[in-house]
Amino acid sequence: MPTPDPAAEPDLERVRVEDLPDHVGRDVRLRGWVRHFRSSGKIAFLEVRDGSGEVQAVFPRDQVDDGSWETLDEVHYEASVEVRGTVEEDERAPGGHEISATGLTLVGPSEDYPIQPKEHGVDFLLDHRHLWLRHPRQVAIMRVRNEVVRAIRDFYYERDFVLIDTPILTGSIGEEAGTLFETEYFDEGAAYLAQTGQLYAEAAAAAHDRVYCFGPTFRAEKSKSPQHLTEFWMVEPEVAWLDSEGNMALQEEFVTFIVKRALERCGDELETLERDTGPLETVLSERFERMSYTEAVESVRSDGVEIEWGEDLRGEAEKALMEGRSRPLFVYDWPKEAKAFYMKVNPEDPRTVKCDDLLAPEGYGELIGGSQREDDHDILLSRIREEGLPEEAYDWYLDLRRYGTFPHSGFGLGVERTVAWICGTEHVRECIPFPRLTNRIEP
Ligand code: 4AD
Ligand code: MG
Repeated sequence: MPTPDPAAEPDLERVRVEDLPDHVGRDVRLRGWVRHFRSSGKIAFLEVRDGSGEVQAVFPRDQVDDGSWETLDEVHYEASVEVRGTVEEDERAPGGHEISATGLTLVGPSEDYPIQPKEHGVDFLLDHRHLWLRHPRQVAIMRVRNEVVRAIRDFYYERDFVLIDTPILTGSIGEEAGTLFETEYFDEGAAYLAQTGQLYAEAAAAAHDRVYCFGPTFRAEKSKSPQHLTEFWMVEPEVAWLDSEGNMALQEEFVTFIVKRALERCGDELETLERDTGPLETVLSERFERMSYTEAVESVRSDGVEIEWGEDLRGEAEKALMEGRSRPLFVYDWPKEAKAFYMKVNPEDPRTVKCDDLLAPEGYGELIGGSQREDDHDILLSRIREEGLPEEAYDWYLDLRRYGTFPHSGFGLGVERTVAWICGTEHVRECIPFPRLTNRIEP
């Protein structure tokens, strides 16, 4: 057959894979990237993905023009193409449809695509993250992330929280001095990349009652654990008139909402990821357990883990604590020394602060850190001094206690850890498009 000029077929409707069910029997064009190809000399098969799905295009030699047939020889993995043909129903095909193709245009060749259909080491894949993003697993994870982010925004919007965008360049230390990225800021001295937007969200809570900030946050943590990034996304609600109990109730409602949404809308993605959704389902049906820090220490000691009261519950201790659990667990009222300066000192036991960590099951670690905030000016000032923080930088923050102070609480949920848990990935580095790790700033 002679080669038709695609421009001479301007009426050919361009469709996406997801639209195929509405176009059965019609001639269409479809654009995308080649995932797989094979040819027998008489017939060729191209698997094309276009962001909305994947479809197989079948090219019988006698149905295809000469130019398109020659083009098939130039096609490699991940080349971009336009396929023309008729949409056919086919029960055996993934998605139930196939294209009986008549024409092919190679838009962008892709010789020697670095990622081949074989095992590659994770460093190699991370070096090629800009290409690795196209892999079906990575596509699935990013789609789950998209849905999680959407759920987060919906949850707060539906509950009348006001979104407050907090600065990334800050003058005050949000969490702890040890993990700051620092830069010179003109004549103003040191500026830091925000570890949290919380202190600003607290100011806005006095204006709007309930607010949240949601953006990238930074920690210069030398940790190589599968739960740490140096740049990660955190959502931080802040609520006036809420105590620590109410804060945990809000966290539970929130996490349940996200998991429910992911199960409802990401069934295909979780299947691609081979995620056993059983443990996620239990999150929806049963209340999260709550345990004080002191009880948690006793519990892990009885499992034979050596730990002093006052230490963090990491590694062995956390493992022992979460063993056999399929739902997240709240650990509340931690020792003052283990936590940030702004947490409210517990009036019933001043060695502790009114706070909680929400620990995920299956080894995914701390999803949330939250607390009631110290609303007493003098106690807060003495905590700032105890921690050796520069007082001047917190003058504005202390103003919130000087002018109309109010009981309030809030928390931060890490997006990548949440996505890792829902997807069942081994490491948070796959749960953000371009991960920043201690040894990685590119691509
Ligand atoms: O417990 P964190 O440090 O709490 C705060 O930053 C508070 N200001 C939050 C608040 O009360 N508004 O961090 C909260 C969550 C953690 O539970 C974890 O999910 C995530 O942020 N996170 C990290 N995620 C990836 N990489 C890291 N290095 C992380 N550090 C914290
Ligand atoms: Mg924490």
